[in-house]
Amino acid sequence: MYRTAPSLLALVALIVLLVSGCGGDTPTAENATASAAETVDQIHSTPAQDYQRYCALCHGEHREGYANDNAPALNTQTLYGVGLLPPYMAISYGRPGTPMGPYLDELGGPMSRDQIGALAAWLSTEVGVEPAGAGPDGLDPVPGDISEGRELYAANCAECHGANGEGGGEDQPGTALGNPTMLATSPDKFLRLAIAGGREGTPMNSFADTLSDTQIDSLVAFLRSRAQGWDASDLQYSEPPTLDNIVLNPQGDPPEFTLKDGRYVMAKDLNEALEQGRKMVLVDTRVPYFWAMAHIEGSSPVPYYSSQQEFLDALPNDGTWIVAYCECPRAAADSSVIKLRELGYENTAVLWEGYAGWSALGYPVAVGRLKE
Ligand code: HEC
Ligand code: HEC
Repeated sequence: MYRTAPSLLALVALIVLLVSGCGGDTPTAENATASAAETVDQIHSTPAQDYQRYCALCHGEHREGYANDNAPALNTQTLYGVGLLPPYMAISYGRPGTPMGPYLDELGGPMSRDQIGALAAWLSTEVGVEPAGAGPDGLDPVPGDISEGRELYAANCAECHGANGEGGGEDQPGTALGNPTMLATSPDKFLRLAIAGGREGTPMNSFADTLSDTQIDSLVAFLRSRAQGWDASDLQYSEPPTLDNIVLNPQGDPPEFTLKDGRYVMAKDLNEALEQGRKMVLVDTRVPYFWAMAHIEGSSPVPYYSSQQEFLDALPNDGTWIVAYCECPRAAADSSVIKLRELGYENTAVLWEGYAGWSALGYPVAVGRLKE
């Protein structure tokens, strides 16, 4: 098992890069020192040891779940059925507002990205699911009728997941489905598989025999429509800004950012600047489907791998601030900002916490619809 670890790590790094447009971290002197103390531990611990040390308390010694805090089972095949991304993100960023905390070192957790990747791969392997990325169609949105989904939810799901998707209570064994971070990191197909396939051996039964495919699709669409928070009643799907409309608050004052390491803006400062109506361009460098799942309002989807020429032509080169972000947290946005700086755009920054950090910190998010 241990001998396969390096290839698993490579696989996980690849999956994360392909799926979410975020690769390894950009090392800085600061985080190198910060993590030095942990390094010895990290090199010598196997995923199985990490599991016992950090997870067994709640998820149970044998990953069966429900040892404490109503933590779900981690030994079901369905959990890994659309690839490692959802469990990887749950472990890294947690489910804010529930007992599931963020384990990523950058958010104050005890584990490195590689360690978490190896742990997710190990969890999957343990239940006999070959660790994999989402696959070509794993990120396709599931279209459905939101209002039908709302009714089906109240009739079939609310008893366990809570009328407002709060879950996790004494009498409600279900997880928190209204959790913006869960929704921002769980593709539609992951939600669909949980509903249609159930989670074997847990209270989550399969609904494949009681609900039609269309009804299950509607439930997924309804859950997705809660991505801005359960109470956001009239969800407006935003469309990508048109090229002549990419500058936010064109009449506003420029933001006054103090950048970390000359490149990074903190989520708190970005949120404040947006609330104050400061003028800027926001660039979402992830794979576009992630933009559709949840994004920072007003951002333009310009994936890190695109030629970006059209977008560059539309960008004002007059000192307007350009802030780029990706998923977790910086590699793709870093590469875009490095390119922009080479082209002479000086007022550029990367969101330090990335999108997943932004949503985990509770800042507002929007849900989008890509043009056909
Ligand atoms: C203090 C208790 C606790 C600890 C410790 C804990 N978890 Fe969790 N975990 C939870 C709870 C509770 C949830 C469900 C939260 C929700 O969404 O309602 C959860 C959810 C998850 C999920 C998402 C499951 C799903 O159904 O989508 C994964 C994956 C996960 N945890 C993995 C881990 C791993 C791996 C560790 C150790 C590194 C860990 N957890 C440590 C309590 C815990
Ligand atoms: C009898 C209680 C119960 C009912 C009814 C129920 N669920 Fe669940 N659901 C659960 C539990 C418990 C889990 C976590 C199972 C595990 O993995 O351990 C879960 C997990 C899920 C997940 C995975 C969420 C995550 O955090 O990863 C989704 C999605 C879901 N349920 C949707 C639904 C929908 C939609 C309905 C209604 C059609 C429904 N559930 C009905 C108990 C229930």
